[in-house]
Amino acid sequence: MISDVLTKPEAALEHTLRPAAFADFTGQPKVKERLEIAVTAAKQRGEPLDHVLLSGPPGLGKTTIANILAKAMGANLRATSGPTIEKAADLAGLLTNLEEGDVLFIDEIHRLQKVVEEYLYPAMEDFKLDIIIDQGPNARSVRLNLPRFTLIGATTRSGLLTSPLLTRFGIRERLDYYQTDQMHRIVTRSAGLLNVRIDPAGAQEIARRSRGTPRISNNLLRRVRDYAQVKGDGHISEEIANRALAMLEIDENGLDEMDKRILEAIIVKFGGGPVGVSSLAVAVGEEPDTIEEVYEPYLIMEGYLNRTPQGRVATELSYKKLGLKPLVGRQSNLL
Ligand SMILES: Nc1ncnc2c1ncn2[C@@H]1O[C@H](COP(=O)(O)OP(=O)(O)O)[C@@H](O)[C@H]1O
Ligand SMILES: [Mg+2]
Repeated sequence: MISDVLTKPEAALEHTLRPAAFADFTGQPKVKERLEIAVTAAKQRGEPLDHVLLSGPPGLGKTTIANILAKAMGANLRATSGPTIEKAADLAGLLTNLEEGDVLFIDEIHRLQKVVEEYLYPAMEDFKLDIIIDQGPNARSVRLNLPRFTLIGATTRSGLLTSPLLTRFGIRERLDYYQTDQMHRIVTRSAGLLNVRIDPAGAQEIARRSRGTPRISNNLLRRVRDYAQVKGDGHISEEIANRALAMLEIDENGLDEMDKRILEAIIVKFGGGPVGVSSLAVAVGEEPDTIEEVYEPYLIMEGYLNRTPQGRVATELSYKKLGLKPLVGRQSNLL
């Protein structure tokens, strides 16, 4: 499982390694270019930035980009998350405390309650908040003016957002897994910030086995650093990186437990596919949207999986990965 829950030292580490400006942010070139233009234009006009929705799998830089955007705009960032806003009153509290130009960052925005979400619509569109005061026959709606603010929403599951919410974001960007050469640069940069000496080949090992995800590479780098310190002289060579990653049982190709369960289910339970995402979800005990938005994109990018109109199909590479042989001439009867 990819966890978004961090221990305290991990959170501190993330803070140290988190790029503070686009100049330090590796990869996602198109997203970066579009956002930089939006920031420059908004600043030239003296307006707050349009609302931004950032989507993509965990650990790819959504929170990082939200912080970079606020900083580039010279704005304060108030951070909260979908599940923490329990009632409309919680949202009203947040919104009425904003100052002109502030950024409100709502992480996991797909987990907002429906009633709370409805209060967001006029707030995003017209910077107005309709609140109901009093109860029963005296209940009446009062309209408050809000300062012009920027909402930045982040989600791993953009498919779960309602269309009224989606369409109120003027800027929508999706982050993709990083290519190995970009991961290599990220590992090298992080090693520099942590004062760890690392060979290019050592960085390459970590880059290759981090599932295209900077959060994973930063965590692996820290584990490998420990290993290098205890078992060597602190220097991360290719050999040290290999030995450390083997000890940690990190997959050669960066797949995690759930990735492997998905491939195994397709091959073993569904004869290699095609299988629909809902059957697959039941088989591995995960939600269909999570499979579709968090796991599948990486497996497809790396060539383990094909998406066909009939469903998901395991490729030869998947069989190889699991040490299994395709069943020649046998069609799956589980369609
Ligand atoms: N493009 C990048 N370049 C360098 N480091 C990055 C990049 N994107 C993310 N990171 C690192 O990965 C960590 C996780 O990023 P984060 O923004 O928290 O991901 P998300 O919010 O998408 O789950 C950050 O602490 C940061 O150090
Ligand atoms: Mg985040």
